[in-house]
Amino acid sequence: MYFLSILAGASLAASAAIGFDKRQSGVPQYFQTTPEVFAGPTPTGVPAFLAETNPAPFPSTTYIPPQPLETQTPIKGAPANGNIYHLHGQLSHYFPNPDGLGVNEYSLPKGSNISQVHVLHRHGSRYPTATPPTVDKLLNTTVKWKASGQLAFLNDWTYKLGQQILTPVGKQELFDSGALHQYLYGHLYPHDGSKIIARSTTQDRMTQSAEYFLAGFFGLQWTNNATLELIIEEPNFNNTLAGYMNCNNSNLAPGESGNTAEAEWYTIYLADALKRLQGMIDPPDILNVTDLYNFQSLCAYETVALGYSDFCGLFTYEEWEGYEYSVDINFAGNNAFQSPTGRAVGIGYVQEIRARLQHHLITSAEGQLNTTLDGMSSTFPLNQSLYFDFSHDTNIMGILTAFGITQFQPFLSAQAITPGRWLQVSHLEPFGARLDIEIIKTPRPVPADRAADYADSGDPTTYVHFVLNQRTLPLGFSYGECGNRADGWCEIGAFLDATAGLFDEADYEFACFGNYSAVPYGQITNGVPLKSS
Ligand SMILES: *[C@@H]1O[C@H](CO)[C@@H](O)[C@H](O)[C@H]1NC(C)=O
Ligand SMILES: *[C@@H]1O[C@H](CO)[C@@H](O)[C@H](O)[C@H]1NC(C)=O
Ligand SMILES: *[C@@H]1O[C@H](CO)[C@@H](O)[C@H](O)[C@H]1NC(C)=O
Ligand SMILES: *[C@@H]1O[C@H](CO)[C@@H](O)[C@H](O)[C@H]1NC(C)=O
Ligand SMILES: *[C@@H]1O[C@H](CO)[C@@H](O)[C@H](O)[C@H]1NC(C)=O
Ligand SMILES: *[C@@H]1O[C@H](CO)[C@@H](O)[C@H](O)[C@H]1NC(C)=O
Ligand SMILES: *[C@@H]1O[C@H](CO)[C@@H](O)[C@H](O)[C@H]1NC(C)=O
Ligand SMILES: *[C@@H]1O[C@H](CO)[C@@H](O)[C@H](O)[C@H]1NC(C)=O
Ligand SMILES: *[C@@H]1O[C@H](CO)[C@@H](O)[C@H](O)[C@H]1NC(C)=O
Repeated sequence: MYFLSILAGASLAASAAIGFDKRQSGVPQYFQTTPEVFAGPTPTGVPAFLAETNPAPFPSTTYIPPQPLETQTPIKGAPANGNIYHLHGQLSHYFPNPDGLGVNEYSLPKGSNISQVHVLHRHGSRYPTATPPTVDKLLNTTVKWKASGQLAFLNDWTYKLGQQILTPVGKQELFDSGALHQYLYGHLYPHDGSKIIARSTTQDRMTQSAEYFLAGFFGLQWTNNATLELIIEEPNFNNTLAGYMNCNNSNLAPGESGNTAEAEWYTIYLADALKRLQGMIDPPDILNVTDLYNFQSLCAYETVALGYSDFCGLFTYEEWEGYEYSVDINFAGNNAFQSPTGRAVGIGYVQEIRARLQHHLITSAEGQLNTTLDGMSSTFPLNQSLYFDFSHDTNIMGILTAFGITQFQPFLSAQAITPGRWLQVSHLEPFGARLDIEIIKTPRPVPADRAADYADSGDPTTYVHFVLNQRTLPLGFSYGECGNRADGWCEIGAFLDATAGLFDEADYEFACFGNYSAVPYGQITNGVPLKSS
């Protein structure tokens, strides 16, 4: 997939050159935020001009000012509460999961405390990884073409996007989340002059996402409150926040059955759109179904970069549901339970969470975590109440898979939409997604049915509570050890038991580096390679 591919094929030698020559003396590489090292590509785009380009108000609607994006585009077949901007998979501008994840949320009973939170955060809205081939095909061709009707805008359309870096609304998503998290957890900051360590990666959008978040959480003087640790994000480096960098098979055919599933599905759901839109351009066959799929991605990218996109209105609501589903199966096949490296890519972060909860450094290699960093308390502190880690969509999907969140495991056909599925990427990994892992201390056990605040007797108890995009992710759905709790919490001992075997289950070494063949989408069901015997 043009828009998703993460490894641009940069050779280690070349990237080492762009990294190490910017090193400041006296500051360890992992605490150097400026100038950036190993920042990745950073081409910027044309600045937005929404005041000039905004077509609102649209026919027969009242004007609503952009907030900050213009998302009122009329869509054929949209239900009253339907919003196509929530059907953009991992390219959706952040919105809290509107449906929840199968349990209700509960307030804390009086006398209980949240003692710790681990925030795992995705970066904000960004430009595409690279310019899609469709753009070149239309703008850099000797074929003379002319569009009409709804497609007429293409006649004088220009490509204005940069690559990889945050767009304005992407910065806002992280700042807003920082402010939200200050409301939610500000009390957990020690307020004794000590600084916390927050972790991100060296990539420009990752570093900046962390910085905008910290500015939202602490204010512009956040460097008084937090030190940002940047883990090198380059091929063959160990990085739990970008686990595919040292998991070769995840970037090769075995780890990419999702691409095939996605293409199979878009050929089906865009068949009508192909006829319709080919009728609006001459010669018609300058556009094929892959181009239309790229048009849908361009709608998402232009919206977050420029505030509005003419591509969005070209498709029906049903075609947008098809688009969301294409991303869902892509993630299933490339990054989750239908991928042989689904668990392996995310297992390092699972190891880190377990180590923090059990108060130990990690000094010997368990998979691909960086033992240099995870072996020192200056870079892997164990005494914090607030942990902030910044990562990527596919990596967080890998972490959910490595945690064995089986809600996202059922097979999703590439031929028809599976209704009622939990794996909806816009609900799990939109831009600015966040998983908050809360540690809750209670004076006595809290009944599983939540019919009363506390059990009549029993000892002080600690619970783990996963909150994904502001809704509870019920641990009991995946871990029998947690029991069937109405609130989705899990007692910490049960949680540690349930997660103890996950490293072995991920089969890290073989999954990432073993010599096995790619198998068709759907044959793999547990996020690990098939065993030959
Ligand atoms: C147009 O295509 C040529 C040949 O592939 C390429 O070198 C050039 O960079 C392209 N220009 C643009 C604006 O994409
Ligand atoms: C944690 O321990 C380190 C090293 O002893 C210290 O510098 C830091 O202030 C402590 N942080 C907190 C939040 O207590
Ligand atoms: C950040 O640290 C400064 C200096 O220690 C402190 O005065 C301030 O209250 C902290 N900010 C927040 C939001 O906790
Ligand atoms: C681990 O991190 C350190 C500090 O950034 C870096 O020098 C080293 O190359 C990393 N090792 C691996 C295997 O990624
Ligand atoms: C992974 O691939 C890189 C080349 O991209 C290679 O240098 C490295 O040796 C491979 N690792 C293993 C364990 O096969
Ligand atoms: C559409 O055309 C592009 C070349 O412009 C090609 O790479 C792609 O495979 C084509 N898609 C299909 C489904 O034929
Ligand atoms: C990096 O990960 C490999 C496993 O892929 C491990 O053998 C190695 O020790 C790790 N390096 C560091 C510095 O942790
Ligand atoms: C909650 O925090 C308060 C104040 O720090 C403390 O007195 C109380 O014991 C804590 N409760 C539990 C269950 O840890
Ligand atoms: C991988 O396995 C195939 C088929 O068993 C074999 O032909 C090939 O040589 C192996 N490659 C490596 C690098 O071991």
